[in-house]
Amino acid sequence: MKKIAVLTSGGDAPGMNAAIRAVVRSCLHYEIEPYGVYDGFKGLCENNIYPLSRKEVSRIINRGGTILGSARYDQFKELAYQKRAAKNLKSKEIDGLIVIGGDGSFKGALALSEQGIFTMGIPATIDNDIAASDYTIGFFTALDTAVESIDKLRDTSFSHQRCSVVEVMGRHCGDLALYAGIAVGSEFIITPETGFDKRKTINHVKESFDRQKRHAIVVLTEKMTDVTQLAKDIEAATSHETRATVLGHVQRGGTPQAFDRVLATEMAEHAVYLLKERQSSKVIVLKGKEISDMAMPDALTLKKEMPQKRYGLVGRLKN
Ligand code: F6P
Repeated sequence: MKKIAVLTSGGDAPGMNAAIRAVVRSCLHYEIEPYGVYDGFKGLCENNIYPLSRKEVSRIINRGGTILGSARYDQFKELAYQKRAAKNLKSKEIDGLIVIGGDGSFKGALALSEQGIFTMGIPATIDNDIAASDYTIGFFTALDTAVESIDKLRDTSFSHQRCSVVEVMGRHCGDLALYAGIAVGSEFIITPETGFDKRKTINHVKESFDRQKRHAIVVLTEKMTDVTQLAKDIEAATSHETRATVLGHVQRGGTPQAFDRVLATEMAEHAVYLLKERQSSKVIVLKGKEISDMAMPDALTLKKEMPQKRYGLVGRLKN
């Protein structure tokens, strides 16, 4: 393997830069020429592919976002675009491609494997929704951002004897809401795994206030319900003023925390090593404390299990 390219795709995640840096530095270690693809699969189709130097990736390990840019590019589902991308790589004699992103991005990588490109996927998404890996790059930084924000909401919520309804990201995965909810000592957590029961939610908050609590926090995953309406309904049922806050894209930014940097570095190094060994179509995963890998088709079909015990925690600690 003489040349390896790297791209970031889908929603960005803190720690992507640390992964890009480690790809470049590992390539140089093995005397492989590293290339960067700008703006994800879109850039790949538009031949936006340039060599990356050691210097270009210095001082990025602690930077949020991705220096390569990212994009959601639906056209890449079409064979013609996949063929064009493979052609662009081959014209530069690049055999290997590392895709840093989520499961949608890995589907793109798999399609390229079928066009004769050696591919590796590195899971990076704040949603932590890749079942094959215990954690994804960016999840813990986003979690810290959510927790810091909800702690601030708690200050004002306590002062005013209010209920705070806080929506976090996560798409179809409740991990951000679950972990943030536990970390801030919330009264109630609503996620795609728990489902949404308005009556139950309101009763739960009401019971908290009946137990003389000064304030309450409800954390929920995006798209579960209309948070503004839920806040109105809680206020009407409890007579406690209730405010809704949507944390939004602030969760995707910021300096990656240490674990995300370490995870990104280890995963990237493993991806380059596997490509050097001429392996392909693998997703790099964290299982327990070990970095390993899984065949991409298997990783894409694996379903995430619901951590039942962790979900029960909030209810068990309510007194
Ligand atoms: O996948 C990461 C994520 O931030 C999800 O949590 C969220 O649903 C989505 O991306 C938002 O996407 P966009 O930035 O395209 O609005």
